[in-house]
Amino acid sequence: MDGNGRWAKQRQRPRTLGHRAGARAVRTVVEYCLKRGIGALTLFAFSSENWNRPEDEVGALMRLFLRVLESEVDELTRQKVRLRFIGDRSRFPEAIRLRMAAAERIVLPDAKLTLTLAAGYGGRADIARAAQKLAERVREGSLAPEQINEATLAEAMDLADLPPPDLFIRTGGEHRISNFLLWQLAYTELWFTDVLWPDLDDALLDNALADFAGRERRFGLISEQLPALALEAR
Ligand code: FPP
Repeated sequence: MDGNGRWAKQRQRPRTLGHRAGARAVRTVVEYCLKRGIGALTLFAFSSENWNRPEDEVGALMRLFLRVLESEVDELTRQKVRLRFIGDRSRFPEAIRLRMAAAERIVLPDAKLTLTLAAGYGGRADIARAAQKLAERVREGSLAPEQINEATLAEAMDLADLPPPDLFIRTGGEHRISNFLLWQLAYTELWFTDVLWPDLDDALLDNALADFAGRERRFGLISEQLPALALEAR
């Protein structure tokens, strides 16, 4: 969700105003997923590196996160959106951690959308945490070292219960992944736009999806093998 700061700067307003506009764009993309039957959306709300931003900006973001959690969770639940969080939340203020835990306790068996907010998240840390979990299991004797493979590692990572992302969208003009879901993005289609996050709208998301729909995903195979792969996936 890149470009909040620049969006505010274009208007000669403080960066925090850009983040508030960014929160409104979150609602736009959630509504869009519901309309289009997209079942999983993961938003990079705050990276592990974002803690190093100026104190006043971090403070303003914390207040905004808390306000959004206080005001949006009931509505999201009503819309059958299951909310959860990935990342290291230990540095977040207690009020936010309590709200996160409360939101995750809501049981929604007929959820239409799983909305994951990556908060205090880093892709490298995710991989390191997974490695640590497996090392623990080796130490306690429930896993042999030779059982450490792509499958067991994937199971120990964040988002293990969701399919790998199909499409990655980065707004704000930068062409990089910035330590987002490093492991999970291995075969994800990447889509970049100069549009700043607060300016995101349905037309932009339509463009991203249309582009995605036109891509040939080969997963390391050749074109001629793809019909068989599609049959296997059924
Ligand atoms: C990146 O833009 C954005 C962030 C670090 C914060 C994202 C937060 C929100 C969109 C608001 C609340 C969202 C939720 C889900 C509660 P930037 O500040 O790096 O922009 P810049 O590159 O233009 O400076």
